[in-house]
Amino acid sequence: MSTLLAHPLPLYLTPQAVGYAVLALVLLAPLALYLYLYPYTAATLPFKNLRGPAPTSGFFGSLFTVAAKPIGRRYMSLTQEHGASTVRFRGLVGRWRIASTDVTAISHVLRHTGQWHRNEGFNGLIERATGGNVLCSEDEAHRRQRRILNSAFNGTSVAAMMPMFWEEAYDLKKNVGELLKADNGDGTKIDMLQIYIRTAMDIIGRAGFNYYFEKHKDTEGENPLSKAFNAMINGMLENRALVVIQSIFPQALDMPTANARRVAKSRAVLDSIAADIVNSRREEIAREHISLEKGEYDGKDVISLCLRANMSAGERDRMNESEIAGQIGALMLAGNETSATALAWGTLHLSENPAIQAKLRAEVMSVPDDEPSLETLNSLPYLDRFVRELLRLDPPLPQVVRTAAVDCVVPLGTPVLGRDGTRMTEIHVSKGTDFVIPINDLNRDPRIWGADADTFNPDRYEDAGIPRTALPSVWGGLLSFIGGPHHCLGFRFALLEIKAVLFVLMRSFEIAPTGREFVRILPSIIQRPVVVGEEKMGMQMPVLVRALEAE
Ligand code: HEM
Ligand SMILES: *[C@@H]1O[C@H](CO)[C@@H](O)[C@H](O)[C@H]1NC(C)=O
Ligand SMILES: *[C@@H]1O[C@H](CO)[C@@H](O)[C@H](O)[C@H]1NC(C)=O
Ligand SMILES: *[C@@H]1O[C@H](CO)[C@@H](O)[C@H](O)[C@H]1NC(C)=O
Ligand SMILES: *[C@@H]1O[C@H](CO)[C@@H](O)[C@H](O)[C@H]1NC(C)=O
Repeated sequence: MSTLLAHPLPLYLTPQAVGYAVLALVLLAPLALYLYLYPYTAATLPFKNLRGPAPTSGFFGSLFTVAAKPIGRRYMSLTQEHGASTVRFRGLVGRWRIASTDVTAISHVLRHTGQWHRNEGFNGLIERATGGNVLCSEDEAHRRQRRILNSAFNGTSVAAMMPMFWEEAYDLKKNVGELLKADNGDGTKIDMLQIYIRTAMDIIGRAGFNYYFEKHKDTEGENPLSKAFNAMINGMLENRALVVIQSIFPQALDMPTANARRVAKSRAVLDSIAADIVNSRREEIAREHISLEKGEYDGKDVISLCLRANMSAGERDRMNESEIAGQIGALMLAGNETSATALAWGTLHLSENPAIQAKLRAEVMSVPDDEPSLETLNSLPYLDRFVRELLRLDPPLPQVVRTAAVDCVVPLGTPVLGRDGTRMTEIHVSKGTDFVIPINDLNRDPRIWGADADTFNPDRYEDAGIPRTALPSVWGGLLSFIGGPHHCLGFRFALLEIKAVLFVLMRSFEIAPTGREFVRILPSIIQRPVVVGEEKMGMQMPVLVRALEAE
């Protein structure tokens, strides 16, 4: 035995030889990987003939070239420079991206969800954070979840939530009012983004799963659900390099790192809270405690509606415990910062445009009721145009990315000239290619919205010919909630929330600018407002708020 151990290797494999072999592997593997990622994929690329910028970095590709352009011009400027509405460029570690302002191509990608999935790494991160849910599933699993969720977010269900939207909007009025107690009439500087985030959270808690964040505070005054959720998100994003690697190689999500263990621990806390919430909703349904009275949300929230829809659903449409509980995380991720950011940008436009503010105020003041019906609220034309314009100019999600799940073909509405001068009417795409849908760029395209597309002007919609191009859309002719089977589940919900808050805000307060300059930043998925010179403070929307004179 001992002799065997003394000569564990065949004779020709001397330690030196093994050393050289390992060294060769260590040196050759990256070279092979490099050859595969760069020259090989470039040579075999089916859309090689598309035009586009040369990468400025091996690791980052052309991402810096794109990011150097102002938000809203990133992709439009590329298409203009290269004289083609569809261009290609390299993303991280050689990955190919196609960006297009061609509406035919965009509609095709958004509709063909079997061929075009969300980014695999993105889906993996969301699944790790919240469990399987509608945000991170594809194909049959997605269709099944959407069928049940759609009924919880349809016009009837959202209309029943109207009293809750009013309560929360008036709660916001109270919160702002408290901050104005010492105001001498000149206005007080308030970060409205924080105010809106609180409102959006309270709304998504109540309407999403009949949960009152305020009522569930622990001994330290923190809400356990928010705490577990934030711990997990922060844990997941704590190692930036790992996040980058995971988004390129989703397999890395399964690596047993210390970080993965911490995230799993937060997930377990979150899962148990979510399971408790689902059980409470189920008990309410069993008790038939479904009241339509104001202030009572039993039975009307999304999770209760899902549980009930699931009971009557056919076998293939059903969702199990963990799938229903998983939607809680989806709602917290998708319904919190999106609406709050939209309201923050709307507030900036109000502060910068006193005439628009006066017009909006005059319209909402003309309504006799403090809590008008959904029909009345939706029949206010200027409020509708204001919200439409705000979601056009500052879409909370300025772009979405899809990844080809299979080799496929994308048709072009406008043919492009290839590098070799040939005319291309369609693009052959290889599996794994990313396709960028530049929401912001299309929302600011003067050919679609008129010459003043960069200006905030709700009156543009008085011209029924606007938009001049039909975008794949579920509301307002805008791409802001995208179109196709993955369109924003909560768009009716978000619109009512935004309208109710603006209604109350304009009837109660006057908004004036602080004289600061804002920039639009994009550290993650949502386009956030930051004050120039106060970047370190992170996202904020400070404005001067003054209570209107009581009549
Ligand atoms: C102004 C506010 C909002 C905007 C602009 C917005 C926009 C979007 C966009 C662009 C997507 C597609 C993302 C992608 O496919 O990559 C999306 C998806 C989604 N949104 Fe919203 N959203 C808003 C508010 C909300 C709210 C309040 C909720 C929930 C109550 C919500 C729930 C969802 C869900 C669940 C999805 C995933 C749908 C699916 O993949 O089938 N959103 N949203
Ligand atoms: C919304 O869904 C509910 C439950 O499935 C259904 O009863 C109602 O008719 C639907 N409303 C609309 C407008 O589709
Ligand atoms: C619930 O369904 C999902 C998707 O079909 C599945 O992955 C999961 O294991 C199921 N969970 C339970 C507890 O049955
Ligand atoms: C969905 O409905 C099926 C059939 O009624 C049931 O077995 C299952 O437990 C339900 N899921 C949840 C989460 O209640
Ligand atoms: C909502 O978003 C804000 C800002 O990112 C965050 O601080 C808060 O914890 C989030 N709330 C929930 C319930 O996710």
